[in-house]
Amino acid sequence: MSLPDDLLAWYDRHARALPWRVPPDARQSGVAPDPYRVWLSEVMLQQTTVAAVRDYFRRFTERWPTVEALAAADDADVMAEWAGLGYYARARNLLKCARVVTAQHGGRFPDTREGLLTLPGVGPYTAAAIASIAFDRPETVVDGNVERVMARLHDVHTPLPAAKAELTALAAALTPQERAGDYAQAVMDLGATICTPRSPACGICPWREPCRARAERTQAELPKKALK
Ligand code: ADE
Repeated sequence: MSLPDDLLAWYDRHARALPWRVPPDARQSGVAPDPYRVWLSEVMLQQTTVAAVRDYFRRFTERWPTVEALAAADDADVMAEWAGLGYYARARNLLKCARVVTAQHGGRFPDTREGLLTLPGVGPYTAAAIASIAFDRPETVVDGNVERVMARLHDVHTPLPAAKAELTALAAALTPQERAGDYAQAVMDLGATICTPRSPACGICPWREPCRARAERTQAELPKKALK
């Protein structure tokens, strides 16, 4: 099996249950993710942890279950529900984006990275994440977790941030054409639960055999970071 297949097989058994996710078995039997929920979760997760986002995501989607409902919300109500998540420009862009999608796109999110990039508050990372998770486009999603996983898998010693381009190219080379959304979330889960910054659980990692850092015993030092 290929590296992506090994990771997807692991994800099929160990995917974290998150309120915005379609579990891998349901995804494979044809249940499509709701782009509104994927977008909302990705905007919330931009500078905030999964643990902190969960309850906010539940409250938002109960109160505003669709992008049209959110577009029609009072600004003050949305800002009040956002309170505590921080980075309030995100909440203002969230509303702007909901209104653009509703008024200019008939309530349907664009289904490509390029189309998504035209939306307020959607930068390269978020556009790639939504294109892959909501629409299964084979886009490469690179966050801190993915950089760490790639640095270890390929034993890259170039320090961050200089290593970014190299780690992005390595991540892109592995991104599969099929199940791209599950794959993107699988790498995130691997970084969050196994290939953690400290004390990675290499013994139970689906990539323990091909991992070059594990072979060289360098995993604890990677990724290297430039001194500030
Ligand atoms: N961080 C950013 N997007 C995420 C996602 N879809 N699942 C888990 N962690 C994430």
